[in-house]
Amino acid sequence: MRIARTVGEVREALLGAARPVGLVPTMGALHAGHLALVERARAECRTVVVSIFVNPLQFGPAEDYARYPRAFDGDVAALRDAGVDLIYAPDAATMYPPDFATAIDPGAVGARYEGALRPGHFKGVATVCVKLFATVLPERAYFGAKDAQQVAVLGRVVTDLNLPLELVVCATVRESDGLALSSRNAYLDAQQRAAAPALHRALSAIARAVHDGEYDRDRAVARGRAELPALLREAYLDVVDPATFEPPANLHGPAVAIASAWLGSTRLIDNEPISVRCAADETVPA
Ligand code: PAF
Repeated sequence: MRIARTVGEVREALLGAARPVGLVPTMGALHAGHLALVERARAECRTVVVSIFVNPLQFGPAEDYARYPRAFDGDVAALRDAGVDLIYAPDAATMYPPDFATAIDPGAVGARYEGALRPGHFKGVATVCVKLFATVLPERAYFGAKDAQQVAVLGRVVTDLNLPLELVVCATVRESDGLALSSRNAYLDAQQRAAAPALHRALSAIARAVHDGEYDRDRAVARGRAELPALLREAYLDVVDPATFEPPANLHGPAVAIASAWLGSTRLIDNEPISVRCAADETVPA
């Protein structure tokens, strides 16, 4: 396994690489969710590249960029064990030299929910991902379903810019109590950690309500809200179209329940796809 620090070193390391090449973009502090992406890439691609870069462009001025967990040596060991071929770990000055001026703005899909709470976040995500795609030139790039709006944003970017790669979205990895794995879970104290799985319970309640025939979005969301204890302060709880993050026309097409809540100063996000029961004799209201 090689470690590249610059675009030139990546290009040199990948000269003549067996294709397809799979890229797993990460910000490091790897957990089992990241390693599931690597495992999937390893199964599907002949060369696997993992990037580790805590991207300053996607953090707001009051956010946790400085204290975001960094665990480079442990990450390298885990990626070596996982059979990765190349790690790309540039520093911020390499990624964004002083005269860097271009940004990718994904438009409306990046303006709601996470985008509203974190202005500029998805511009930062889209910009760094396009740079990573242009550096590694992968056939496939792997992302976790937990970051559903990030997936929607990157889908928009890949389509709009005709980028020649496939986005592969892998299922969210959860603790046994349902909490989605996230590097930010490390910020939770014991009481917050005990309360955190309620976020997924709320989402499951929404998905179950729709599945069981509650096609009114507000009432379905209210069923989820009832699951949130006071310790979890809701940032948003809703049902959206997974591609646009707009309200779905109705709950019979593609829809995903999304949630975010504060536990102290940590904000967690999660989502649950909604599947509608389709009994042959069921009439579904418009
Ligand atoms: O999901 C993440 O970890 C980041 O947003 C990503 C895709 C690596 C871009 O910095």
